[in-house]
Order: sequence, then C-alpha cells, then structure tokens
Amino acid sequence: MASKLLVFATLLEFAVAQSGAWSQCGGIDWGGPTTCIPGWICTYSSSWYSQCLRPMVDYDIDDTTPTSTTSSIPTPSRTPTVGLALVAQAAGKLYFGSATDNPELNDAPYVALLGDTMEFNQITPGNSMKWGATEPSRGTFTFTKGDAIVKFAQDNGQLLRGHNCVWHRQLPSWVSSGNFDNATLQSIVQTHCSTLVGHYKGQIWDVVNEPFNDDGTWRASIFYNTTGPSFVNVALQAARAADPNAKLYINDYNIEGTCAKSAAMANLVKSLKAQDVPIDGVGIQAHLIVGQVPSTMQENIEQFTALGVEVAITELDIRMTLPVTDALLQQQKKDYQTVIAACKAVSGCVGVTVWDYTDKYSWIPSVYPTQGAALPWDANLTKKPAYDGIVAGFLP
Ligand SMILES: *[C@@H]1O[C@H](CO)[C@@H](O)[C@H](O)[C@H]1NC(C)=O
Ligand SMILES: *[C@@H]1O[C@H](CO)[C@@H](O)[C@H](O)[C@H]1NC(C)=O
Ligand SMILES: *[C@@H]1O[C@H](CO)[C@@H](O)[C@H](O)[C@H]1NC(C)=O
Repeated sequence: MASKLLVFATLLEFAVAQSGAWSQCGGIDWGGPTTCIPGWICTYSSSWYSQCLRPMVDYDIDDTTPTSTTSSIPTPSRTPTVGLALVAQAAGKLYFGSATDNPELNDAPYVALLGDTMEFNQITPGNSMKWGATEPSRGTFTFTKGDAIVKFAQDNGQLLRGHNCVWHRQLPSWVSSGNFDNATLQSIVQTHCSTLVGHYKGQIWDVVNEPFNDDGTWRASIFYNTTGPSFVNVALQAARAADPNAKLYINDYNIEGTCAKSAAMANLVKSLKAQDVPIDGVGIQAHLIVGQVPSTMQENIEQFTALGVEVAITELDIRMTLPVTDALLQQQKKDYQTVIAACKAVSGCVGVTVWDYTDKYSWIPSVYPTQGAALPWDANLTKKPAYDGIVAGFLP
C-alpha cells in the first residue's frame, strides 16, 4: 500500500519540471525546479544549496557488507548527505577520488568510507602499481596487490587512476643499477609500460611521474641520464599501443601555480604534440602547505588545457605544522576551497584526488615529522573543516 502511494506521488510530480540527477533543486536565490526526477531525492545541503541525490545503499560505518535496496521504489535507509563525489559531479567533473594502499584495506571503518561513492568515485593505488611492486626482476611481473585495488574499485563502480609506469623512485635495483645502454633501457621502459598498461586496461594512467627539477630542468634520473628525454616518448607510445583507450598523463609536483617547472611541463606537452607522441593530460599533484596555496592555480591549469590536454589534481593534501589549531584548520578549509575552485573554474580540469582521505594514512608525518593533519578527515575518520572547504569549492 505504501509503495502504491509512493508511485502515485512520483507520477504526479513528474508532470512538473524536475531537476535531473545530481542537479541543484533548492537554495536561497534558486529559481529552478524543487523536485527531482523519479528515483532521486532533493536533499538539503545548506541554505544555499539542495541537490538531487540517489538514495543510498544501506550500510552503517561498522558494517562492511553493503546490501543494496532491491525495491523498485528506492527507500533511503539513512538520510542522504552531500558527498564530495556528488558535488564534484554536480560541478561537471568526472570524479572526486582518494589514493589508498593495500594494508589499509583491512581497516573496516576506513574501507566502508573509501567505498562510499557519494564521497569517492575514483581510486588511485598509492604504491602497488609502481615499478618495484610490479616488475621486481626483469621480465617478471607481479600484479597481485594492484589487482586487489582494482577489484575494490570495480566492486564499488569507481574509476581508477593507474600510478605509475616510469618514476625515478621505488625502482628495483636491477633498473637503477643495471648500467644499461640507451637502446636497452628504452626497451626496458617499453616492455614495462606496455605490460603494465596492457594488464590494467581502460584506466587513466600516470605514465611518467616527476620528470623535472623545480627549476624546470630535466631531473637527472637514470632514465634521463641514459636516454635523454626519449624515455618519455617511449613510455607514452608503449602505453598507447598497449591500450588505445587509456588516458595518458604526465604527473608532477610543484607545478600548481605558474612557475619555471610548470612552464617546463607546458613545453614538454607542446613538444610531444609536435612529435605526434600521445599525451592526454597533465597531473598536478598538489602536495601543498596551509597558507601557501599559489594564487595562479587557475591560470596555470588554463595554460595546460589551452594546449589540448586535460588536467587533474592527482595527489592533493595540504599539510600544517603541528600541533593542530582551530586557526590552522580554518586556513586549511580556505586552502582546500581555493584549490577546488581553481579546478572547478576550468572545464578541462576533470577531477581531483586526495592522497588518501584520512590523516590516519597520510604519508606526510613519515616524511615531514613536524607536519601533518593534511587531509579532509582526521585520524578518527571525523570530517574536518577542510571537508566543507572542498564542498564549498565545488558549489555554484
Ligand atoms: C645522472 O647524471 C648526473 C650528472 O652526471 C649525476 O649527478 C646523477 O647522479 C646521475 N643520476 C643517476 C641516477 O645516476
Ligand atoms: C638515446 O637514443 C635516442 C634514439 O633512440 C637518441 O635520440 C637520444 O639522443 C639518445 N640519448 C642519449 C643520451 O644518448
Ligand atoms: C581520536 O579519538 C581519541 C579517543 O577518543 C582521542 O584521544 C584523539 O584525540 C582523537 N584524535 C583526533 C585527531 O581527534
């Protein structure tokens, strides 16, 4: 009986204009429809914004086995709340995502939130697709850990960014100390990238990671020293040949604002395009510091998209000097909003990934011992003001 009434109500509402999936359906100054298409619920987010959201899968944070509602009339089992992936998609972006790593997948509360596609509809494996993890000895490939993360993402319907084919760190010693000549190392790069991208088809890929120094010169890696810039061409061409549908990126840090390093990246993209080498995107890592977000992020993103490539913010975190204070958390909120707003403002900026979502699993304290608290959820999986900053950055 209750479900018949619901059907009736739904049909009645269908006669008037309704907002579509993920669209705005309310808020101060909103003049559009205030109901949603069938199956979607107009959900209050703030006095400025309500959004059509899909009713949720039924789980709570302690239950790691989600059970979908099976009724054709969706009945939300908890109050839908706004999510980072939802607001990102409402802003026209493809995704909001998080990096993760295999050991964390044993942490049930962490996993429940990581798999919540209202928050994250994209996953990046933090370590398990790197060279040392995937080709520990020449010609011997191990995909077990990477496969586990792909399975997690696929089970949840999340996009995946493969990370990465060629990087100067986390290399097995057979590569870094092999004293290979130019032609041999090119062939090793070719085999590695084609095998990796061929195994993980249909993904977005950070094919080349961190090729430049901060002054915009080439990093004197084993790859550059041995092949010159050729390793970039070889890696990208191998990736394209292995999977014509993969999105191929070059990814680096300290290219958030306009600077010598971002100019070097733009010049590399131009040069690759001039040579007909496949390149689809520039990944801006965005490992930033509270109070120090560059003011030129938007124009910097635009300089890349003007070259005919897309951009993604690939490893976002904004660290602070500890201890955490309210003032630092408020500044961090503003800084997250600034970064997100810069991506939102440029249609070619397709998505944002945080470098894990909780301070519990941030890489920062292990590398910068006096710093931390860089992510939108604290170590107890409680949302910080930074979360609201991200939402605010995506809102109209
Ligand atoms: C590359 O060559 C430079 C200059 O000779 C050297 O300083 C650097 O250590 C080399 N890099 C590697 C990884 O061997
Ligand atoms: C490596 O070989 C390529 C040709 O495949 C050549 O263009 C490049 O200059 C060589 N690099 C070095 C450092 O010798
Ligand atoms: C997490 O919870 C514990 C226990 O309630 C508390 O001692 C700790 O301060 C909390 N951590 C953060 C970052 O809030």
